[in-house]
Amino acid sequence: MTKFIDSKYVKEMKQTTMNLYEHGWDERNGGNVSLRLTKDEVEKFEDTNKTLRTVQIKFNASELAGKYYLVTGTGRYFKNMTEYPERDMGLIKINAEGNSVDIVWGFDDGGEPTSEFPAHLMSHIERLKKDPEQRVIMHCHPTNLVAMTFTLPLSSKVLSRTLWQMHPESIVVFPEGIGVIPYMCPGTTAIGEKTAETMKDYHVVVWPHHGVFAAGDSLDETFGLVETIEKSALVYTTIQAQGGKMLQTITEKDFRDLADRFGLELNEEYLKD
Ligand code: 13P
Ligand code: ZN
Repeated sequence: MTKFIDSKYVKEMKQTTMNLYEHGWDERNGGNVSLRLTKDEVEKFEDTNKTLRTVQIKFNASELAGKYYLVTGTGRYFKNMTEYPERDMGLIKINAEGNSVDIVWGFDDGGEPTSEFPAHLMSHIERLKKDPEQRVIMHCHPTNLVAMTFTLPLSSKVLSRTLWQMHPESIVVFPEGIGVIPYMCPGTTAIGEKTAETMKDYHVVVWPHHGVFAAGDSLDETFGLVETIEKSALVYTTIQAQGGKMLQTITEKDFRDLADRFGLELNEEYLKD
């Protein structure tokens, strides 16, 4: 039997958190990631079958009772996750009542899951209803996307269309568009509820002036989603730096050609003026 620290799950979390840090989207303790593991995946290890500590949570997560999540710790720096995974992340199991979690690995200096755990777990609940393969919720602070929430209207349609128009890849990667919620205080159950409600229609929810929440089936896929959005946001920023006047753009016909070629289900409402 092997130890959990040597698992591919910890390895992938270390790679992803370092990638997020190196892209500049997770300064200081900014950002958090949770990855769902199945009971079978967890039980393969010699050091994941004992409860080390129990931590209370302030909202009802009973829909996820018995599920396991590898999650980053509150206040921890992504730049340090690679060197101190057992300190800066933890594997938790949601208790039957849904009001506490058992830590079964990690957080070995007394740490606890991210302060955005309400938004993570509530979003997991909503995305799992749409997709049984749902595994990852990722929160980070991509610079150009955050900047766009100061200069563009806070409308899901406007932001989605603007990002689609910055690169043909965008509509292929997020054909449903992205959701935008109003500015709210981070780390609260209220922002968790609003994020999860918006996740019913989108894999991505933008938190104005703060960052993004993204959902997906794997760490790579979810990272790729954020990467694609931020690439489009960077093209937008660069256009503004070049004077902001666009002489030509990707047209509705071009989007329809992409939809035909890649078999996309487009958000028709966002396609029309
Ligand atoms: P945590 O350190 O609690 O994960 O919070 C970071 C963050 O980005 C809050 O929105
Ligand atoms: Zn944040």
